[in-house]
Amino acid sequence: MTRRNAPVENASVLGDAFSMQQGVFADKSLLDVGHVPAPDHIVARNEEIRRLATALNPALTGGAPSNAFLYGKTGTGKSLCARYATTRIVEAAAENGVDVGRVIVDCSQDDTETRAVRATVRGLNDAEETGVVVPETGLGRSRYYGLLWEVLDARFDVALVVLDEIDCLDDTEYLMQLSRAAEAGKLDRCSVGVVGISNKIKYRNRLEERVKSSLQEREIVFTPYDREALREIIRSRLSAFDDDVVGEDVVSKCACLAAEEHGDARKAINLLRHAGELAASDGSDQLTADHVLDAKNVAERDRMRELIAGGTVQQKATLLAVTSLALVEKTRTFKTPEVYAAYEDICAETGLETLSKRRVHDLLREWEFLEVLEITRTGGGRARGSYLQHRLLEDPSLVRSAFDQSGRFAGVGFASGGTTTTWSNI
Ligand SMILES: Nc1ncnc2c1ncn2[C@@H]1O[C@H](COP(=O)(O)OP(=O)(O)O)[C@@H](O)[C@H]1O
Ligand SMILES: [Mg+2]
Repeated sequence: MTRRNAPVENASVLGDAFSMQQGVFADKSLLDVGHVPAPDHIVARNEEIRRLATALNPALTGGAPSNAFLYGKTGTGKSLCARYATTRIVEAAAENGVDVGRVIVDCSQDDTETRAVRATVRGLNDAEETGVVVPETGLGRSRYYGLLWEVLDARFDVALVVLDEIDCLDDTEYLMQLSRAAEAGKLDRCSVGVVGISNKIKYRNRLEERVKSSLQEREIVFTPYDREALREIIRSRLSAFDDDVVGEDVVSKCACLAAEEHGDARKAINLLRHAGELAASDGSDQLTADHVLDAKNVAERDRMRELIAGGTVQQKATLLAVTSLALVEKTRTFKTPEVYAAYEDICAETGLETLSKRRVHDLLREWEFLEVLEITRTGGGRARGSYLQHRLLEDPSLVRSAFDQSGRFAGVGFASGGTTTTWSNI
């Protein structure tokens, strides 16, 4: 039963708070980041899946698969397609009586050679079947390798090792070892196929020649989703909501905003979930395009707040300087002397030590790295020389509200007159 059908007289304040979440959602878990959609809900990736399946296809008869690398920005479905294609290969091989093992190693967690080898062998071992116990700690790298080769030969004809976020691995030795295992005589029965996944398209350039020639991998590039694909992806998650809660206008709004933001499906789904939460918490029984816009603002503000919270006091002061300028001027672009003067004002207002121009410049560069600022050198003509321009990439009122919400810099530097903020609590 949906909330809108509930008898109004039963709704106590507390009762409302508990029933709201069900108000719009039928099954919210469909919008979780980790949710794996059913195969017929994977949208617009047939070609990529087909190419990956083709590379891995020899595994179906117990042969050595080709290695494959998937490249593309975040949220383009790489992890999803790798998971799906490898699962299918394992299942189809089993029907032929071929034992294929599959493990997914998250290299952003297991980011050294030893950790990655350990995660692989722990993921593929079955102690009851092999009698091999793989301890969590205490073994050196070569022991973990030893156990890996032992487990692979004991259990599988083919092992598919998916190295997700492979660019986080601190070196490429593990790739080398995996791709040369058979040649080097480490394995008798089992062949290994590596599926590498990277958000950084330039990852391959960083691989040494010996690794490339040993891998001989196929490259599959995932391009950002366009608006139509994002719309389909969102539609396929609508069973997360009760009937008639989400209209086509909401689907379009989510798709448009996510398409503007690099075609990231993860962002599109998050947007839909946040919009649903906002609708539920204001007691609506339908989502509106405004809920989606609000959700976007909340998400951006949360991101800003996290970035700001991660900065040092001085770092915060430099961003505050640019933001306070952007709030009072018509532009978002400022030269170094303007930024420094605003920074000095903030220091004076709050009793913070004033750092040198050079130090402030270094701190501003860190905001540039975080893509909050853009710093460019502009030619001022022969007589005047060149100078730096600092452009705030975020909406200044959004940055301001993130500062306000952090409860620390509230009011400081925002031309709001004298404030009583003390720096001791920053
Ligand atoms: N083609 C698609 N169809 C349905 N859902 C998708 C599709 N692509 C991505 N998603 C969903 O979007 C989110 C991000 O996808 P993911 O595979 O993790 O991206 P990547 O690994 O490229 O960063 C996941 O929740 C995933 O289920
Ligand atoms: Mg991924």
